[in-house]
Amino acid sequence: DWTMGAYREEMIAKIREQVGDKQVICALSGGVDSSVTGILLHEAIGDQLTCVFVDHGLLRLNEAEQVVAMFRDNYNLNLIHADEADLFLGALEGVSDPEVKRKTIGKLFIDVFQKYADGIEGAEFLAQGTLYPDVIESVSFSGGPSVTIKSHHNVGGLPEKMGLKLVEPLRELFKDEVRALGHELGLPASFIGRHPFPGPGLAIRCPGEITREKLEILRKADAIYIDQIRKHGLYDEIWQAFAAILPMRTVGVMGDGRTYDYALALRAVTSVDGMTADYYPFSHEFLGETSTRIINEVKGVNRVFYDCTSKPPGTIELE
Ligand code: XMP
Repeated sequence: DWTMGAYREEMIAKIREQVGDKQVICALSGGVDSSVTGILLHEAIGDQLTCVFVDHGLLRLNEAEQVVAMFRDNYNLNLIHADEADLFLGALEGVSDPEVKRKTIGKLFIDVFQKYADGIEGAEFLAQGTLYPDVIESVSFSGGPSVTIKSHHNVGGLPEKMGLKLVEPLRELFKDEVRALGHELGLPASFIGRHPFPGPGLAIRCPGEITREKLEILRKADAIYIDQIRKHGLYDEIWQAFAAILPMRTVGVMGDGRTYDYALALRAVTSVDGMTADYYPFSHEFLGETSTRIINEVKGVNRVFYDCTSKPPGTIELE
C-alpha cells in the first residue's frame, strides 16, 4: 500500500527524532496494537528497544510460546518473557469476584512490568499502542488533553510512576489503519486478524474461583472450539469467540459409568466495536459437532452450552 509505505517511513523518522540514542521499553501483549508498535519501534531504533511480555499464566493454549517465537524468530527483537504465572495465580487463589480479579491482575501487571523495566539501564521512554479513538476517548472522558494508557494494557499510570516519557506512534490511526500498517511491516495475517483478547485473560472466562485444573480444561476446550471455527471458515465473520468454564459440575454418562464433570459455555458474537454485539447463529450441525469433539477430547468436561445472549443485555465476557 503506497500511503502506508510512506506513513511508515514518516513514523520511523519521527521516532528516531524523538528518542535519539535513549532506551525505550514496551509492554507487548501479542495483540495487534502493541505488536505493530513494537515492530515499528524496532525498525526505527533496533536494539535501543526492549519489549516485556508479561505472562500471567492466564493465556490461551501455547499462546506465550507463539508470541515469543514470532517476535524473536521473525524480528530478532529484544524480548523479555516474564513468566510470572505462579505470582498471579497465587494472588488469585480463592478470589471469585470479577472486579477483584481485574484489580488484582492489573496491580500485579504494573508491579511486574516495573520490576523488569527497572533492570533496563537508562530507559527513558515507554512505547505504547494508543490509537486515535483512545486519544479522543481519554480527552472526552477526562475533560483534558491528558493521555491515559488503554485500560486493556493494564499499565495505567505507569509512565508517571516510573518517570518515563511516552512514545505513541499509532496515535493518529484507526484500527483498520493499524492492521494495514501491520501488514506493511510483515506481521503475519494470523496476528493481524486475531479476535480481541482481554487483559485479565482466562481469569474472566472462569467464573468463580480460578484453579490450575480449570484453566487447563478451559485451554484445551477453547483451542478445539477455535479450531472448529477456523475449519468451518467462520473465524473472520466473528468478532470474538471463546469458551468459558462454568463453576459447576453436572452428571453425565459415558460408557457404563456415571460422570460428574465441568460444564462449559461457548460464546461467539459479531460486533463493530464491542459496545454492542449479537450472538453468532451457528448451525445446529456445527454446535453438535463441536460439543461432541470437546467432550470426547477434553477430560473433565461432560456438558457444553451455547450462549445465545446478545449485548445488551449480556456482556461479551461472562464476567
Ligand atoms: P464486555 O464483556 O464488557 O467486553 O462486553 C467488551 C470487550 O472488552 C473486552 N474486555 C476487556 N478487555 N480488560 C480488557 O482488556 C478487561 O477487563 C475486559 N473486560 C472485557 C472483551 O474481551 C470484549 O472485547
